[in-house]
Amino acid sequence: MGRFAPAFRSAAGERRAPAIGLIDRAFVSALPLVPKPIVGKFSARYIAGATLADAVREIRALNAKGILATIDILGEHVTQLSQAERAKDEYLQVLEAVQTNGLDSNVSIKLTMLGLAIDPEFCYRQMRAIVEEAKRRGNFIRIDIEDSGVTDATFDVYRRLRAEFDNVGAAVQAYMRRTQDDVTSFIEMKANLRLCKGIYVEPRPIAWKGRGTINANFAYALRRLLAGGCYVGIATHDERLIWETERVIRDLGLDHSRYEFQMLLGVDEELRDVIHAAGHRLRVYVPFGKHWYAYSMRRLRENPKIARYAAMAALRLK
Ligand code: FDA
Repeated sequence: MGRFAPAFRSAAGERRAPAIGLIDRAFVSALPLVPKPIVGKFSARYIAGATLADAVREIRALNAKGILATIDILGEHVTQLSQAERAKDEYLQVLEAVQTNGLDSNVSIKLTMLGLAIDPEFCYRQMRAIVEEAKRRGNFIRIDIEDSGVTDATFDVYRRLRAEFDNVGAAVQAYMRRTQDDVTSFIEMKANLRLCKGIYVEPRPIAWKGRGTINANFAYALRRLLAGGCYVGIATHDERLIWETERVIRDLGLDHSRYEFQMLLGVDEELRDVIHAAGHRLRVYVPFGKHWYAYSMRRLRENPKIARYAAMAALRLK
C-alpha cells in the first residue's frame, strides 16, 4: 500500500466522521486489521470480479438496462516500467473486448498504473498508444485523477493528448483549492471532464475541508464547466449535488446530450434507478482485476455500516 495507506480515509469519510459516531469510526480505523478474505467478501459488491470476463458480464447486464459503463483495471502506482507496459497491454485487450462484445462502455485509467510516478514521458507514450487505439475503435479514454502528488503530471499528459485527440478526457476534484483555476484552463480547451469530490486525504493548505464547502465548490465548478461548453461527467451519489445539477441544467436550458451522471458499481442502486428513470444519461464505473484490495478499502471507508460488519466478522473469527 505504501504511500496510499492514508488514502483509506476519504474526504467524504472525514466529513462524515462526526455523524457516523465513535463506534463506527473505531470500526473504520480497525479496517486495516481485517483479514484480506473478509475485506474481499464485503467489498465484492464494488468490483465486477478478478477477470475481464467478469467485467464484460457486469457491463452486459448494465447495458441491458440502458446504463452505460466505464471499465477500470484495478491497480495504481506501479514500481517498475515492465508492470506499466503490461498494464498498457491489458488496456488494449479491454478495448478489444468492449468492441467485440458490442458493449457500451468507455475506459478509465489511473496514470500511475502506466508509470507516471516513475517516468512521465514513458507514461505519455503508453497513454498515446492506448488513446490512439481507442480512437481507431471508436472509444473514449477517461483519465482518473489521483492524489495531489501527481496532479500536475496527470494534467500535463492530458493536455498533450488532448492537443492531438478528441477521445480523451480528464477528471477534477471539488475538494482541491486549485480546481477553479484548472476549470478555467479546461474551459478554454473545451475539455471533457469528470467532476468528483475527491477520494484521497489531502492537507488543508491545498484542499477545502468540510462537506458544505466541498459541495459549494462542486456546484460552482459544475455551473462554470457547463456554461463554458464542456461535456461533464457528474460523478457523485450525493442527492444534494444531484439536485444542484438538475437546477443548473434547468437554469442553463441544457439538453441531456451535454452531460452524464456517473456512479460507482455497488453504490446506492436505488438512486441510480431514479436518475436513469428521469431520462439522464448514466454511466457506472466498473472496476475489475486482481489488485482489488486498495480500491475495496477506500470504498469500505466510505461506508461505515459495511466496515462495521467486516470488522465484526473479523472479531468473530479470532
Ligand atoms: P458522499 O461521500 O457524500 O456520498 C453521498 C452518499 O453516497 C453517502 O451518504 C452514501 O449514502 C453513498 N455512498 C458513497 N460512497 C458509498 C459507498 N462506498 N458505499 C455505500 N454508499 C456510499 N475520486 C477521485 O479522487 N478520483 C477519481 O478519478 C474518482 N473517480 C470517480 C468516478 C466515479 C464514477 C465516482 C462516482 C466517483 C469517483 N471518485 C473519484 C470518488 C469521489 O471523489 C468520491 O470520493 C465518492 O464518489 C464519494 O463522494 P460522493 O460525491 O458520492 O458523496
